[in-house]
Amino acid sequence: MAYLTRSGNTRVVADALSRTLGADLFEIRTAEPYPADYEAHVELARRQSESEATPGLAENVADMARYETVFLGFPIWGGALPAPISTFLATHDLAGKTLAPFITHGGYGTGSAPESLAALAADARILEPFIQECDAERDTLRLVDAWLEDLS
Ligand SMILES: Cc1cc2nc3c(=O)[nH]c(=O)nc-3n(C[C@H](O)[C@H](O)[C@H](O)COP(=O)(O)O)c2cc1C
Repeated sequence: MAYLTRSGNTRVVADALSRTLGADLFEIRTAEPYPADYEAHVELARRQSESEATPGLAENVADMARYETVFLGFPIWGGALPAPISTFLATHDLAGKTLAPFITHGGYGTGSAPESLAALAADARILEPFIQECDAERDTLRLVDAWLEDLS
């Protein structure tokens, strides 16, 4: 079970799956962490997507050969597969494995992610993804700003 998360939505799904299946849990983190600030993160992710960057990961899964099935979770960034997931797929051999994707998004759907996944994991057997719309951090931040505005 490998997953990428910023605000924790995808982790909720990963944790639930891992508990139920008794699966190993691996958080995909970039060597250079993303900015804590939401807008700065969005901007960096946009630039990486434009340049088709594959940012280096902090750590790789130790022994992929042990796993027949890989659950791979990620949020949608800019209507697409996040760059760290492209890196993950480029650096981990999923050939001949079953890939079960779980995807969270903020209300705009999965965009081009399923297509990209199919292209980048062409040698895996990809199962029907679990897709869940989750609270977007952006919406919460807007409401917090509005509340502070009301208070002042
Ligand atoms: C950089 C960035 C870009 C995002 N772009 C989209 C998008 O294009 N469409 C969408 O529906 N949600 C978008 N979101 C919202 C997330 O996909 C959604 O909130 C997701 O559940 C977050 O998962 P996480 O909590 O595991 O990070 C974006 C969030 C971030 C941080």
